[in-house]
Amino acid sequence: MLNYKKILIKNGNILDIANKKTGVFDVLIDSSRIKKISKNIDDKVALVIDAKDKLVVPGLVDVHVHLRQPGQEYKEDIYTGSRAAATGGFTTVVAEPNTCPPIDTPSRLIQLLKIAKKESIVNYYSKSAITVGLNGYRLVDVENLKFAGARAISDDGHPITGDRLMFNALKKGREYDILVNPHCEESDLYRRRQKEKGKRKSPDTVTNPPYTAEGRFVMRDIELAEKAGARIHISHVSLAQSVNEIAKAKERGVNVTAEATPHHLLLSEEAVKEIGPNAKVNPPLRSEEDVEAVRRGLADGTIDIIASDHAPHSAKEKSLPYNKAPFGLIGLETTLGLVLTYLVRPGILTLQQAIEKMTILPARIFGLDKFGVGSLTPGTKADITVIDMKKKWIVDVNKFFSKARNCPFNGWKLQGKAILTIVGNKIVMKDGKIIENS
Ligand code: DOR
Ligand code: ZN
Repeated sequence: MLNYKKILIKNGNILDIANKKTGVFDVLIDSSRIKKISKNIDDKVALVIDAKDKLVVPGLVDVHVHLRQPGQEYKEDIYTGSRAAATGGFTTVVAEPNTCPPIDTPSRLIQLLKIAKKESIVNYYSKSAITVGLNGYRLVDVENLKFAGARAISDDGHPITGDRLMFNALKKGREYDILVNPHCEESDLYRRRQKEKGKRKSPDTVTNPPYTAEGRFVMRDIELAEKAGARIHISHVSLAQSVNEIAKAKERGVNVTAEATPHHLLLSEEAVKEIGPNAKVNPPLRSEEDVEAVRRGLADGTIDIIASDHAPHSAKEKSLPYNKAPFGLIGLETTLGLVLTYLVRPGILTLQQAIEKMTILPARIFGLDKFGVGSLTPGTKADITVIDMKKKWIVDVNKFFSKARNCPFNGWKLQGKAILTIVGNKIVMKDGKIIENS
């Protein structure tokens, strides 16, 4: 990656929601920090970048990614995943802890963050598990995981079935001021346990089964969070019922936030029949009415942010019959283009809302704004994404930097793309190419 002491971005359309700064300005970066943003900056030694007619925003933030390291590097690793992120315009990612082994001890987290320092070209943060081994029985050492740098606790892919356990997790969350980020969904593990208890039949049909646990878990987790006085963030909302529960809770002042993914905003269960395993995801794609409700919730602020849930799997795994293929699809390289083309262009979100939901809001929810993430505040680290709103492109999985190809949007025509990604004083991506250290 090209390392410059000074970079001057000229004449870009600035959109910095946190600082309410919009309009055509120059941005001067000096020694990895934003030095100033104003009109007509001149600098004799800076590398000058012409951003006329381009959008200049704080580096995008994705708080829900699976980079599969440690343990499943054949699907993805921090090296490739962070390059996929930079290509998609993301300068900060928060990784899920469902690796092999899971991130459930401070030493594992510290070790991972050390590896990420070397491998990642974007800011890399991680969540930790809520329960040891993601098994849903025993709480992790929340205090020391927070101390080691965990941005949230999440048993990704699994709900916490025990009410008391969830309540205890939330109490710890409050005590150590760490975000509790439950996955309100019906995982295989959850279904197996329910089956063992004789409570429901196996829903393993060819198309998506009508899973309904999400709404119930959302309701319960919100109630417990309210009782514990904890902050809670609901991952990948997919049902109208969940949107309603979150809206009601926000109205009565519960400290709840939520996210939606591009796939739950743009695809319905119909896509599963057409696309097959690459549209197999948890929570599953839902009815048109649910998609509509999630979109409405995103637009009216019930759902705060957009996150990709980038979940890479190998081609071999995704070529298995539908019932056997793993859940998950990738999103780091398509999220921005999908949001601009299918949410902003048709007027579902304003451009300001879309950028806010991909920068300052996720940064605030995960406590990253205090490191300068999500804004262009002078004096903070210069994480910047330059977007060409006019650029038309076609999703081609074979051009992805991710190791994975499990993308249901392959072949989609998009308009709007990140053309430059800056992390500190490093240009990490330019015109779709990753700039490596020479
Ligand atoms: O579809 C999914 N895949 N949803 C999740 O929450 C987990 C993820 C994975 O790890 O593959
Ligand atoms: Zn996930």
